[in-house]
Amino acid sequence: MNSNTTIPRRSWAEPYKIKMVEPLKMTTRAQRERAIAEAGFNTFLLRSEDVYIDLLTDSGTSAMSDLQWAGMMRGDEAYAGSRNFYRLEETIRRYYGFKHTIPTHQGRGAEHILSQLTIRPGDVVPGNMYFTTTRLHQEMAGGAFVDVIIDEAHDPACKHPFKGNVDLAKLKRVIDEVGAERIPYFCLHATVNMGGGQPISMGNIRETSQLCRNHGIKIFLDATRAVENAYFIKTREEGFADRTIADILLETCSHTDGCTMSGKKDCLVNIGGFLAVNDDELADRARNMVVAFEGLHTYGGMAGRDMEAMALGIEESVEYDHVRARVGQVEYLGNLLHRHGVPIMRPTGGHGVFLDARAFLPHVPQSQFPSQSLAAALYVDSGVRAMERGAVSAGRDTQTNENRFPQLELVRLTLPRRVYTQAHMDVTAESIIDLFKKRDRICGLEFTYEPETLRFFRARFQPVTGNKILQDDYGNLHGENAAYIQSGA
Ligand code: F0G
Repeated sequence: MNSNTTIPRRSWAEPYKIKMVEPLKMTTRAQRERAIAEAGFNTFLLRSEDVYIDLLTDSGTSAMSDLQWAGMMRGDEAYAGSRNFYRLEETIRRYYGFKHTIPTHQGRGAEHILSQLTIRPGDVVPGNMYFTTTRLHQEMAGGAFVDVIIDEAHDPACKHPFKGNVDLAKLKRVIDEVGAERIPYFCLHATVNMGGGQPISMGNIRETSQLCRNHGIKIFLDATRAVENAYFIKTREEGFADRTIADILLETCSHTDGCTMSGKKDCLVNIGGFLAVNDDELADRARNMVVAFEGLHTYGGMAGRDMEAMALGIEESVEYDHVRARVGQVEYLGNLLHRHGVPIMRPTGGHGVFLDARAFLPHVPQSQFPSQSLAAALYVDSGVRAMERGAVSAGRDTQTNENRFPQLELVRLTLPRRVYTQAHMDVTAESIIDLFKKRDRICGLEFTYEPETLRFFRARFQPVTGNKILQDDYGNLHGENAAYIQSGA
């Protein structure tokens, strides 16, 4: 069609229609109070069938397309040399540009291999904010993570368009202090999950890469949400409006030596990941490790059908209309909350809306885990499941064993890709806006069980006062959907 005759695009709409549906279960407030108490006030420990709208994570929760499901039938389940592996390898080369692909069961499988192969005890790994599993693997290999993200990243209200940027002065200081030979690689996140899904600009990626290369330091990308990062570069950074998502993704990767990938996010699959590198020798060593920990080097932890679905998912993920609708939905929810005065991390990021729990619950001190408390209260109010991203996730310092209290104390409302509708966003916002009005009824939490590592997954808590996280109310919800949310209260 001639471009003059096309209708100018205004707002986004989902670039797909729904072929199959999965019913959602409504619960009563009494049921939810029981469920969250049984789960030790940790949303990770809820049973999914007790959840109404599940915004725990965008990891492995996306809806696959009809083409991907068709691809599942084309799985070649040979133990060795599955054709789906070669297709995946080719697709990764085309879109991410890396020479070698080592498939793994998910992202942390790749992080394990990369950390063990590159980090020696006493090494320092700088990066633009930590991620939980990534840092744990770096620490388990004897390294220490050092955060060199810009200061703006720690301020939820600051509207910097690229809050994921690296502070080059901080990075230089780390290099001067510990010496390049103690830095096995720079850990580059695009987007930055723990910082609210905030992007890093191409200008900053280029400069960071240059600085690392000048010192002979390798740079590995956590490519988990690099497609979403490419979208922000296209829409926010000067000079990129006319470039495709695929082209921006390829350039992003070209400034690095390889990547770890959780395919459960951008790649639109329910399971899978990979390590991709350019270095022949590192690839060879990684293949030796993958056969010990994951599976043969031509399947890692994935079935043939999983690799086929991932190859197709990568192709779909870089389509502009897909990413625009994906990020558009996040923005929609964020704008609704912001307009109603709910404190959120701004600007909204790529994969979710992050509530600023410190501003939301000023009466709950950080030592009583405001994000954990808010996530539990939200579940009680409406059955919406969110995730704590604050002090519980940050864990304890490896040297002092003291709690780490990060500046960002957030509750993540993470949107699975292609799963929920705008009406689901509306009811979610209604619950949160209402909760904000009655926030003084939410109390803090204390540990009753604290696992040694990645404690947020399995920790248990109890309310610091009484036995309820959210004191009773007698129904002051608004909106058409309030009846559902309130049912049985
Ligand atoms: N890197 C980032 C940036 C991630 O967000 C995740 C997972 C991983 C690595 C690890 O990948 O789960 O496939 O082993 N993030 C999930 C989340 C768990 O909910 O944010 P994985």
